[in-house]
Amino acid sequence: MNLSEQTKKIQSFIKAHHDISKLNEKEVSDFYIQLIDCVVDHNHLYYIENKPIISDKEYDELFDYLKKIEEHFPQIITSNSPTQTLIGQVSEWFTQAKHETKLLSLENTYNAKDLEERDERIHKILQKQEPNAKISYRVEPKFDGLSVELIYKKWIFTQAITRGDGLVGDDVTENVRTIKNVPKKLKFPLDIHVRGEILMPKSVRKDINKEREEEWEVPFANTRNAAAGSIKLLDPKEVDKRWLVVHIYDILNDVELPKGTKLIDLFPVFPREKTGLHIKDIVKLCEDPATKKMLESKDIEFDGLVIKTESLEQREIIWTTDHHPRWAVAYKFPAQLAATQILSVDFQVGRTWIITPVANLEPVQLSGATLKRVSLHNFDFIKEKDIHLHDRIWLQRSGEVIPYIVSVITDRRTGKETKINPPKTCPSCHEPITNIDIHYYCTNPHCPEKTKQQIQHFVSKHCMDINGIGESLVDLLVENKIIATVADIYKLSDNKIQVQLLKFPGIWDKKVAEIVKGVEESKHKALRRLLNGLWIPHVGKKMAQDLAEQLTHEDFVKELTNEEFLSSIYGIGEKTVESITKFFHAKHNLKLLEQLKHYGVNMNPKKYYDLLKASEAKGSFSITWSFDLPREKIAEYFQQNGYFFHEQPTKTTDFMLIGEKAGSKKAKAQELWLKIYEWWETIVKHFPFLKDIQTEWAKPKTQSLF
Ligand code: IVH
Repeated sequence: MNLSEQTKKIQSFIKAHHDISKLNEKEVSDFYIQLIDCVVDHNHLYYIENKPIISDKEYDELFDYLKKIEEHFPQIITSNSPTQTLIGQVSEWFTQAKHETKLLSLENTYNAKDLEERDERIHKILQKQEPNAKISYRVEPKFDGLSVELIYKKWIFTQAITRGDGLVGDDVTENVRTIKNVPKKLKFPLDIHVRGEILMPKSVRKDINKEREEEWEVPFANTRNAAAGSIKLLDPKEVDKRWLVVHIYDILNDVELPKGTKLIDLFPVFPREKTGLHIKDIVKLCEDPATKKMLESKDIEFDGLVIKTESLEQREIIWTTDHHPRWAVAYKFPAQLAATQILSVDFQVGRTWIITPVANLEPVQLSGATLKRVSLHNFDFIKEKDIHLHDRIWLQRSGEVIPYIVSVITDRRTGKETKINPPKTCPSCHEPITNIDIHYYCTNPHCPEKTKQQIQHFVSKHCMDINGIGESLVDLLVENKIIATVADIYKLSDNKIQVQLLKFPGIWDKKVAEIVKGVEESKHKALRRLLNGLWIPHVGKKMAQDLAEQLTHEDFVKELTNEEFLSSIYGIGEKTVESITKFFHAKHNLKLLEQLKHYGVNMNPKKYYDLLKASEAKGSFSITWSFDLPREKIAEYFQQNGYFFHEQPTKTTDFMLIGEKAGSKKAKAQELWLKIYEWWETIVKHFPFLKDIQTEWAKPKTQSLF
């Protein structure tokens, strides 16, 4: 059953059982679980994919019923209920606060010519009062973030309220306080209310998404979602790690700034405004592709321009409709659309074993890229958009956003289009596949595509970090049946296999020696790396580390199948507990562990782990780097020499290592008054153990195909 069918079923249950008190616990319990899944899925569509399929009203009805169940049957509340976590019912957790002045939204235009018509209308209004009225405009970039009101009393930042419905929003003061560029004290004692936008820089989103993928979390679809999701986190310390920024664009209350002072002297104002413009200049600016291009080159996401009447007196006269001011209007950059055709459909076995349909397209140019493929996501999507093979489609892509199919151009159907059917077997191993909900899964543990991905993950930087084994080597080894599981990697130390390797073009003695060295070294790595490398659903880098820290014994399977033990780990969710116990109950996984142990891979949680313990460290450090030497390598050397690593600098960090182009982390380190070591020569002088890394790195790199 797909989500819309499931939702309909749930809605009719709710309709039929309005009075919860008439239901018994058994009836409610089953329904409760279904309702949780349903709300979680809608949250995902709304917050992450930005594509809700039900109205806010319908969503509220589902959510209210969930709350009602929990009120009547508190004994069945589970920690994975969306009422217990944050996303989706944000306002439950934040107090509401009223805006003194309503935060209006802007009317959108998509066509620069419409702006000329508006200009004429405004002229007419103004000319009633002043026959020769001239209008001068200012243009600002339109930030694509989360609108917020900041309130200052006397000098001091006292409150931040999200826009909400314009009248009432969430009080996010403590979270906004963590944003570095929000002034906490003004240069003058002013009672001022300002409006601005909270944003997550594109580069930060990229980094955070990488981490989220490593942690089996869904990446943020765009910077607006990322900013909104971050500012509504419960713990300000977590918000602090999201590197949000604010840009202010408006004063909301009647306040006079000290003579000669402008908004930009007090607040972070994006310095890209143009003033004194005539409507003709505006149209030109909107239509000039260079405008969009310039904004796209910034680290912040913009989705258009905002055009404002400059004179405050004129603003008073032309003022406002119910929802929108007339003195300002948004010009939205046209979303780039292109028509193309679906030539064929492939199926891919992905990271999470889900088989994803992907359309091969007649290549088409869109937002500066040539697109040849686009994801069809799942069969629900195909059904919803009524997509057929050979259909002509509209593709859309804007800014950093991944391209997607907007609609099928049904007028251009020829009758030769055919239905896209789910595959019967896995495209890689050809074994039958399983259909659960909207997805199809390959459940064959020996599927070569999955094997390849598992091995690639196992050897990767955050797992066993095996030097010398890259993606193409993994493909070659799996395709030639030299290895079939991650444990088989350790067979590469065997002489006979090495001889076999040398037969492949591009693999020479040196390469083989590098592989063997990497494989041997990996046997002595910390257990957290192995746990991360095993590809346990919902266990990423962080969870693997938490697990490794809690384990007491080399025979850790007992602990990892003990639900009580797992549930006691801070921050672990029910889903993760279930996934871990399931993983360590499965016979093939136990066999894999046995083999790894047999090859001498470290299973001792206490070994190699001491390097990580903060209390025993010589000091703690953070690092920001853009030298040739990989950052990870430097961090690892410091860890091996007894220093504790902080991913982000905090007050408790002792020192910061800075490579070129340090950026925001350096600013943060300075703000925190951390000791800073800059430039390689200075750093090596202070930490002589780094000389080894230098000699190792100076060695000529082996030239090979891999
Ligand atoms: S001025 C009275 N200026 O765009 C309206 N808004 O609906 C004052 N936005 O959520 C808004 N950049 O938060 C203004 N430079 C800018 C802006 C801007 C982004 C947001 C605003 C609102 C949305 C439009």
